[in-house]
Amino acid sequence: MSDDSVLIRNNATGQEVEYPLLKGTLGNHTVDISSLNKDLGFFTYDSGFVSTASCKSAITYIDGDNGILLYRGIPIDQLAEHSSFLEVAYLLMNGELPKEQQLHSFTSEITHHAMLHESLRSFFDGFHYDAHPMAMMVGVVGSLSAFYHSELNMNDPEHRRISAMRLLAKMPTIAAACYRHSVGWPFLYPRVDLEYCENFMNMMFSLPSQKFIDLAHYIDPVAVKALNLLLILHADHEQNASTSTVRLASSTGANPYACIAAGIAALWGPAHGGANEAVLSMLAEIGTADRIPEYIAKARDPNDPFRLMGFGHRVYKNFDPRATIIRKTCYDVLEKLSNDDPLFELALALEEYALQDEYFIEKKLYPNVDFYSGIIYKALNIPVDMFTVMFAIARTAGWVSHWLEMMAEPTHRIGRPRQLYVGPEQRDYVPIDRR
Ligand code: CMC
Repeated sequence: MSDDSVLIRNNATGQEVEYPLLKGTLGNHTVDISSLNKDLGFFTYDSGFVSTASCKSAITYIDGDNGILLYRGIPIDQLAEHSSFLEVAYLLMNGELPKEQQLHSFTSEITHHAMLHESLRSFFDGFHYDAHPMAMMVGVVGSLSAFYHSELNMNDPEHRRISAMRLLAKMPTIAAACYRHSVGWPFLYPRVDLEYCENFMNMMFSLPSQKFIDLAHYIDPVAVKALNLLLILHADHEQNASTSTVRLASSTGANPYACIAAGIAALWGPAHGGANEAVLSMLAEIGTADRIPEYIAKARDPNDPFRLMGFGHRVYKNFDPRATIIRKTCYDVLEKLSNDDPLFELALALEEYALQDEYFIEKKLYPNVDFYSGIIYKALNIPVDMFTVMFAIARTAGWVSHWLEMMAEPTHRIGRPRQLYVGPEQRDYVPIDRR
């Protein structure tokens, strides 16, 4: 047997088959068991995909034990310090950092795709004023497929590229429209003279009746810098639940806008992107530091479904490198925006308590990126129910990059997991009068 393979033996029949070990650039070797069912007649069982690689990808690498996150090989802390969100989006989508001219064209193209079709604006009228912005975003992004369907040739790389650019460009416009619908303000058009994050802040907060007020009133450079950072940190995270959802939906050849809407729906859950909103609700519920022990006890209790939101991660079992960066930014942003948020103090106290707690130490539960992101969003005046929408804007860069990567693979196949059936054996239909 070679070193590059794994032997699988069926003890019932004694049959043995050798399976190749695939080696990536970094990370665990991967056993290629794609012919296992044909060879030995059984499936593998891996609930939650804890040990299963669902695809090959060259976009993002995570080393969970050592807290490493690389986008196209570049460490997240270097990108956080030196880059902008659009430069990172270019890197994720194209594989290399852009040269100056390339970044200029990319930015200009994104800026020019930021407008929404006028008919889309009326879609919002169908939503009740208190609809959750994520519900609006799922619906509106999905409906983009109605605007860009018939002329879309998925086999044409240029058509695919334009779809990805449109998605990245329109997300802030849709996000701001979701917010403005909820507060009853008229929608603002995107502006070509503003940078991506500035444009978003303007579309969120400017009022048409106050045109004479200096733009700087709405767009604080500290806030824009913090927003860029948050978008960079959330831009991609390899095969997480929402990205895997986008890939699975796309594997059927479905319209890309519908596939991204599926990703947005998956992101919404509190175990994934919805955690940032859940952290703030949890902190508000805890209220004061003296109640921390009570909530830690709830989190430890196996009979209580309560979990400490913003703690734990499927992959990071030491620390989340994004959390380390963002924690420091919390101090800077709160200080510079002169925003003394008691919730940040409470979060720090909760973190300190949990990190010394036996249960959290034993289970390797550390604060993740979303333990702190909500505190920054709050300081930027982004409403709590918009937090996951902010995550969706950022993650669109990752989703479209994975979509482009998958669609460019000539051999990609429809995703079709198997199951371990535990239902009744075959039985006969019983007429209603004999049941
Ligand atoms: N509070 C209390 N206990 C926890 C927590 C928590 N936040 N997270 C995990 N555990 C316990 C869990 O009860 C389990 O205990 P036991 O072994 O006794 O059954 C053990 O730790 C392992 O948990 P798991 O659910 O099997 O781990 P997972 O890898 O399936 O789940 C997770 C990872 C992130 C869903 C989970 O840690 C969690 O629910 N955290 C809170 C939600 C959260 O902050 N999510 C944001 C993730 S980062 C942003 C993103 O990428 O989406």
